Amino acid sequence: MPVLITSQTATPPSISLHQLRQRAERLLSLCGCPRSELSILLLNDPEMAQLNEQYRNKLGPTNVLAFAIQEGGGEHLPTELLGDVIISLDTASREATIDGVTLHQRVTILLIHGLLHLLGFDHERSRAEALAMLERETQLLSELLTEERRGKMVSLAINVDHVATLRQARGITEPDPVLAAGICELAGAQGIVVHLREDRRHIQDRDVRLLRQTVKSKLNLEMGATEEIIAIALEIKPDMITLVPEKRKELTTEGGLNVAGQKKKMQEVIARMRKAGIPVSLFIDPDSRQINAAHEVGATFVEIHTGRYCDATTEQLRDKEFTLIATAAEEAYEMGLRVNAGHGLNYLNTRRVAALGTIEELSIGHAVMARAIYVGLDQAVREMLALLPAG
Ligand code: PXP
Repeated sequence: MPVLITSQTATPPSISLHQLRQRAERLLSLCGCPRSELSILLLNDPEMAQLNEQYRNKLGPTNVLAFAIQEGGGEHLPTELLGDVIISLDTASREATIDGVTLHQRVTILLIHGLLHLLGFDHERSRAEALAMLERETQLLSELLTEERRGKMVSLAINVDHVATLRQARGITEPDPVLAAGICELAGAQGIVVHLREDRRHIQDRDVRLLRQTVKSKLNLEMGATEEIIAIALEIKPDMITLVPEKRKELTTEGGLNVAGQKKKMQEVIARMRKAGIPVSLFIDPDSRQINAAHEVGATFVEIHTGRYCDATTEQLRDKEFTLIATAAEEAYEMGLRVNAGHGLNYLNTRRVAALGTIEELSIGHAVMARAIYVGLDQAVREMLALLPAG
């Protein structure tokens, strides 16, 4: 194995060792040594301070140390062994906060720094070398992240609840959300979403059952975590479920789930769904605490609530809310969570979110249905699809 990761500390949920290993392997390739072997050791400040004193005569911890295999007199060892990169997660975590980046990203930067040391770069030798090293670091990080995100298509899942709302307004059988879902799929939508509410104000049990049989792309059942609806989900087995908070009096889902405040319950529901082979997405606000909690309870996806960005009334507010979404999506992605987003997205504000590169799927309902009244459902879906990056 070209990259060996050892952790002397409990790795925080915001670090995905799997992703770190993949990144280290890609970095070796980008540096022209894909077959070299690299060892990464993650530890905390006290152990780092010991090593710093022992090998560099310096007091206190540092962020990263690199030991090339030759430094230890290993000239008889196979040349593919590059050496060790040792990273203090305590220091990395403080630096991540100061730099406003995720811990995962800070660790990636430190890994690049250590790797370049192993490859002969040394910023302590001269100013020119320091500049050359910094330049190479920046270039490698950018190549790594661009490569990781390139080719990631954003898919469009259409929420057909509003078709059922219209039907229920008359209490008759049309328009039928099942037929609407078929038209959305024919127009190119990669998923269908329905929210089976406790009060059955729009989607009915019959709709979900028929959709299970007819949807060819992917059926995402949005639901509150109540026993009655959980039982239906377990019986019908949609392709995935999205847990949302549900209040009877709300017009639409108002805010994200408080996952951090109900970890045990979320864990239980996720475990039951996992047993039935149903991946779970948690609809959350763009907030670090909720993302960490979603990761801890074992969610496969998070759906980031874009409502406040969409409702922003000034450019400045919109930018602020967009930054929160971008940061949250980055954070979740870096943890290895799959990231969806939705709520309030329309033909004007979707492109920016879709371009993030960390988001896999957008869930859109109202705007598409509203446009469909004028231009037809097929055309409305195609126009939304045209706004998404094609991969
Ligand atoms: N995602 C979730 C979790 C939702 O509850 C809704 C609304 O049903 C949507 C996405 C779609 O929102 P909109 O209808 O505003 O596009």
